[in-house]
Order: sequence, then C-alpha cells, then structure tokens
Amino acid sequence: MSLTEERSATAHAPVEHTVGRVEDVPPGEGRAFVAGGVQVAVFRLRDGSLHATQAACPHAGGPLADGQTDVDVLVCPLHLFAYRWTDGASTSGAAPIRVYPVHERDGALVVTL
Ligand code: FES
Repeated sequence: MSLTEERSATAHAPVEHTVGRVEDVPPGEGRAFVAGGVQVAVFRLRDGSLHATQAACPHAGGPLADGQTDVDVLVCPLHLFAYRWTDGASTSGAAPIRVYPVHERDGALVVTL
C-alpha cells in the first residue's frame, strides 16, 4: 500500500452535524457550537452567506465567534489577525485556521467535519 493509499484508507469520511437553527446566529454575527465533539464557530454574514471555522484562534485562543467579519475575512477580536473564509489562511501572518463547509437545510445549520 502506498503512503497515499494508506492516508486515504485511514482518513475519516466527512460527516454532517446539525448544530442549531439559522436564527440562532443574528445577521452579521457569529456563534460558537459543538459539532461532533468539535468546537466550531458559525457566522451568518449580512449578505446571507454562512461560514464555519474552528472556534479558537490559533494565535492565543481568542473566541473567533466574537470576531468582526466582512465578505472576505474574519478578524479575531483579541489581536486582530485576519483569516480568509475561502481557505482559512491568515492575511496578517498568523497560522491558518480550519474552515468547514456549512449550509442551511430546512432552517437548520449543518456543519460538515
Ligand atoms: S488570539 Fe486571535 S489574534 Fe491573538
């Protein structure tokens, strides 16, 4: 078995987790949830789009759900490092964050880990 095959054989298949209702997250804000035992932050932007990230900032554990948002980035409330929604990369020199697929289904927030 090649290393690539070994990795794919041991990787977990993505699993959807319903974490709450869309109305639990006011427009323009984020909220922390637990999805399958993992703390995540879910954001509902004012344009209606949804995003999900790890809950704790990798810099010093800041609560990312309390961060400021725009259409491109999330800004941690503690030291203002910024992270792109698209891939979690920091635009200000910090380590990247994990981003997760999230969607709405019949009013429920569904995060895939
Ligand atoms: S804890 Fe997030 S930028 Fe420092």
